[in-house]
Amino acid sequence: MSLQQKIEQTVAVLQQAARDFAPVCFANSLGAEDMVLTDLIAKHVNSKNGQDIEMFSLDTGRLPQETYDLMQEVHKRYGVPLKIYFPDCTAVEEYVAQNGANAFYDSVELRKRCCYIRKVEPLKRALAGKRAWITGMRRDQAVTRGSLEVSSFDADHGLQKFNPLLDWTNAEVWEYIKQNDVPYNKLHDRFYPSIGCAPCTRAVTPGEDIRSGRWWWENPENKECGLHVGRTPLKRA
Ligand code: ADX
Ligand code: SF4
Repeated sequence: MSLQQKIEQTVAVLQQAARDFAPVCFANSLGAEDMVLTDLIAKHVNSKNGQDIEMFSLDTGRLPQETYDLMQEVHKRYGVPLKIYFPDCTAVEEYVAQNGANAFYDSVELRKRCCYIRKVEPLKRALAGKRAWITGMRRDQAVTRGSLEVSSFDADHGLQKFNPLLDWTNAEVWEYIKQNDVPYNKLHDRFYPSIGCAPCTRAVTPGEDIRSGRWWWENPENKECGLHVGRTPLKRA
């Protein structure tokens, strides 16, 4: 399938989500895939003053400066509101008091607890009252993502979930970004293919797995932050 056909298919999925599942929202991490979706939604789905698909970002409080720079650029370039959700401050204060500021390096359990407080709980608030949500996940990003579907019921959160870029390749994502002059996170130019929180993301060497710079000290099987739980049966070779 050509890139043009994939674009058309993706736009059709986004329009269907907006039409049949209102109110629907898009979880925008500002990563490369999500910038493609931001551009497509702004151009082909959201009406001038309406907000057919609401966009939101989870600000963990530990994001890299480059991600905040892009947040600002998205605001200027697209003029589409990007709602920011913050973690519950009492939960963060308690976690840091008990475990320390960088406790996520100490154990998988403490890492997952930090992700829960800074991402998962805010996500629950972002999804409350919605009938569907959209993500930028692609099938070939990780062993944990092989069995995803473009549209399926997300039983964990109780609403429909769309992954409209599921079958795009990394090369197609970048072709779209270059062809359409889409703004992107400058860390991508410094060998950060997948970007999350600053302390849990590092650059990869050419040829390395694209998510190997995320929680690099853990096994690939653990490398999900909990945003996309339940639906991730591991597909092993
Ligand atoms: S993660 O779960 O390991 O962090 P990844 O960075 O690949 O996931 O992002 C997968 C999808 O999860 C993104 O395309 C986006 O839809 C959603 N997502 C991840 N992080 C955030 C965030 N901080 N804010 C909003 N959505 C996010
Ligand atoms: Fe905490 Fe790291 Fe998860 Fe961010 S990615 S929420 S800093 S453990």
